[in-house]
Amino acid sequence: MKQTATLPAGPKGLPIVGNGLQFQRDPLTFMRGTQQQFGRMAHLRLANETVVAFFRPEHIRYFLMEHPRNFIKPNLGNGANLKAFLGDGLLTTDGEIHRQQRRLVQPAFHRKRVEGYADVMVQFTQELLETWQAGTEIDMAQSMQQLTLRIILKSLFNIDSPAQAITLGHAFNDVINNTQRRFSSLAKLERRLPLEKNRRREAGSRTIDDFVYALIKQHRAEGQDVGDVLSMLLEAQDEGNTMTDKQVHDQVLTFVAAGHETAQNTLSWTFYLLSQHPAVYDKLLAELQTVLAGRTPTIADLARLPYLEWVINESWRCYPPAWLQGRRALEAFDLDGYHFPANTVALLSQWVTHNLPDIWGDPENFRPERWDPVSGQKVPQGAYFPFGGGPRMCIGMPFAEMETKLLVASILQRFTPRLVPGFPVVPQPRITLRPKYGMHMILEATPKVATVPVA
Ligand code: HEM
Repeated sequence: MKQTATLPAGPKGLPIVGNGLQFQRDPLTFMRGTQQQFGRMAHLRLANETVVAFFRPEHIRYFLMEHPRNFIKPNLGNGANLKAFLGDGLLTTDGEIHRQQRRLVQPAFHRKRVEGYADVMVQFTQELLETWQAGTEIDMAQSMQQLTLRIILKSLFNIDSPAQAITLGHAFNDVINNTQRRFSSLAKLERRLPLEKNRRREAGSRTIDDFVYALIKQHRAEGQDVGDVLSMLLEAQDEGNTMTDKQVHDQVLTFVAAGHETAQNTLSWTFYLLSQHPAVYDKLLAELQTVLAGRTPTIADLARLPYLEWVINESWRCYPPAWLQGRRALEAFDLDGYHFPANTVALLSQWVTHNLPDIWGDPENFRPERWDPVSGQKVPQGAYFPFGGGPRMCIGMPFAEMETKLLVASILQRFTPRLVPGFPVVPQPRITLRPKYGMHMILEATPKVATVPVA
């Protein structure tokens, strides 16, 4: 294909700030609107960088799966926020350092090893359910945050403290809710101003840091390998040196943050979607009651719960917790008829690509049946990437898939969460896609008998 020297077209911006304000005001509408206007890709004027949003499945494949080594994390917008918060953990490093880190911790995330965490997931959920009462209102987002935090801390670091999960949950909220996704050259300056949001973000960050460093100190003092991820990191040798506390800290923080934030959002959005789609809820409950008959779920049950899997796949399509990823080109590249200079920042958005009408037909509909391998639709590779793709695909995917299924199956058999009438549900694109005001739901006792036959 003939390459042109110009960049693709894109939305008109303002002088100096370019598209920065439009993006910042409402990134979800801006990104989908830009796709609808420009089609396959669009040049965005953000932060004085060459930024191009790529929307097609073949683009996702190009960056993540076919040429991953030609691109690094962009350290811009969300990427800069992540780096400032997480330091140099697996999510934010590149090249050889990243490959070494990934090799080191990969064993902790193999499917078989992860299956060992199932009992903790189910047990902690049952304990939570014992505290719930039918007829009461809860903030599902907060409740799922505390549960998923408790699970990740126990699974990866062998610590169990519900009280610490609550404190940490608040601290994470202070960091995430006060971190604005800014594509502007003034972003760095603004982070340093004496503003309330900066104060809260930094206080939250300190609480989390103190917790992680205390954990490392305790593990080093005990000096035993208890087979958890922290022992693995502390034992790791890098050219004869063990990792410094700062290096271990950044890894631990990354796992705690990435290991619960996306999972809690998945659960909030899934319960929300089920509350809005009674026919889907009925079908799912029928499957759960037929297969489990009130028992707590085990790993072995999951293969017999296909509808549960489709519901969760569809929830990730509609409300992808990771809704935007970026990559920066190490060298110039040619793609789809254009020549892009080195340093181009590519934006890839699950929020947009999971919603392309020519691929999904009726993307606005929450329709788990589209995932049925027999009668569902064909999804081209790259069109659906809630966990990213290629060598940097989410290391926690097996963990997250299992956790989500076990928790939804456990909770729905006892309680049916219904959205509080009139409660405003607004997706808020921060580092992840969060429900802006939480998810206030009323718990109803789940009826004992399935009313609808399993499909
Ligand atoms: C629904 C749940 C989850 C979603 C949607 C999700 C999504 C993602 C995505 C999209 C990436 C790729 C980012 C990129 O390429 O720029 C990623 C990477 C990562 N995720 Fe997850 N994640 C989830 C759960 C988890 C869990 C449970 C853990 C840990 C236990 C985890 C740890 C990580 C780490 C460490 C990386 C960086 C991997 C690397 O770059 O090598 N995630 N995740």
